[in-house]
Amino acid sequence: MVTGGCGYIGSHTIIELVQSGRYEVISVDSNVRSTPETMDRVAQITGVRVPNYQLDICDKTSFFKIFEEHTDIVGIIHFAAYKAVGESVEQPLMYYRNNLGALANVLESCQKFHVPALIFSSSCSVYGDVHHLPVSEETPMGVAACPYAHTKQIGEEMIRNMLVPNPDMNALILRYFNPVGAHVSGLNGELSPDKPNNLVPIIMRVASGKQPSMTVFGTDYETRDGSCIRDYLHVSDIADAHVKALDYLLEHRNADQCEVFNLGSGNGITVLEMLRAAEEVTGHKLNYELGARRPGDIPAIFGDSSRANNLLHWHCRYGVDMMMESAWKWEQHLNSENLNFESYD
Ligand code: NAD
Ligand code: WQD
Repeated sequence: MVTGGCGYIGSHTIIELVQSGRYEVISVDSNVRSTPETMDRVAQITGVRVPNYQLDICDKTSFFKIFEEHTDIVGIIHFAAYKAVGESVEQPLMYYRNNLGALANVLESCQKFHVPALIFSSSCSVYGDVHHLPVSEETPMGVAACPYAHTKQIGEEMIRNMLVPNPDMNALILRYFNPVGAHVSGLNGELSPDKPNNLVPIIMRVASGKQPSMTVFGTDYETRDGSCIRDYLHVSDIADAHVKALDYLLEHRNADQCEVFNLGSGNGITVLEMLRAAEEVTGHKLNYELGARRPGDIPAIFGDSSRANNLLHWHCRYGVDMMMESAWKWEQHLNSENLNFESYD
């Protein structure tokens, strides 16, 4: 079971799960932040139609009915959550209710229906403002910079607490850095229900002329060119890590009931380097201005993902060029289908 299967990372994970040939997949997604048409795109790429149960996971009665229909669920990959940092500051209770309420029901379902494997989408934001780079799984959690990041910190703890009285349950917590790009076919990618706030979707909008210009937030950080450093990785690489994580749990290769893995490329890239890569790949000069720092941004973060490399046998297949090339193909697909946030409700 993939929760949030119509979303950005969930849909790419379903593609990798189906293409592995090892798993039959069902999705549970209320489409509060996506559309059911995602499954058409997944079918176009894989040739397999994955059913989506369109319901709110916080509605326990409806959610639990799925387990009466499917008594053979071997694992849950739990993506369903809200994820916008700024929105979580504006509407904190909405974030605590949805992200933690859904997780509580997922955990209860694992207990009640004897689901042995759970994989949880966590985030590098649990580390807060770190000073020792790269960040390893042993780096202590810092103060959460926003309610969204706090829901991930609490979520991780809820999982650990629930494993104590449930010795047959096993969980992996995956802390993603900055997933970007789209499926290499350009047929599936991120479809933001709102005007995007993240760097790569904004770059693509500027490159395609949908947005006249953009701002580089901060040019006076103590980094090699003054702009922020992040650890970007291709969304299909993140997706592939979930297949390997599920294999790992189902083959009983885990040493502990709950293990944590960073998922990053290990390379820190600056905003200005990202812009240059996008200009090269798209062939379009980007219109941008050098602006003030964005409140809440940390100067630099990148991860040490050697644990995932060694234990999950996971390695990034794609570099920055493919992140940009696939995002650009997806942007053109969005424009040809007239699918962008202005026409999307
Ligand atoms: P997304 O918004 O594209 O997908 C989330 C999906 O969950 C959406 O389709 C939404 O409709 C669904 N959903 C939300 N609440 C639900 C509920 N209560 N019941 C049923 N469906 C619900 O987000 P994404 O980028 O694919 O992120 C997936 C997960 O990864 C999230 O947990 C997010 O916090 C985490 N994560 C994302 C990033 C990132 O940069 N995208 C980074 C780190 C962690
Ligand atoms: C990347 C860099 C901006 C837009 C977010 C969440 C984090 C995690 C990943 C979920 C920053 C700069 C951006 C623009 C810019 N998500 N930028 N101009 O903030 O690193 O991480 O996604 O768990 O929790 O906070 O990603 O893509 O917003 O920004 O200069 O118009 O691009 O300042 O340095 P961020 P982002």
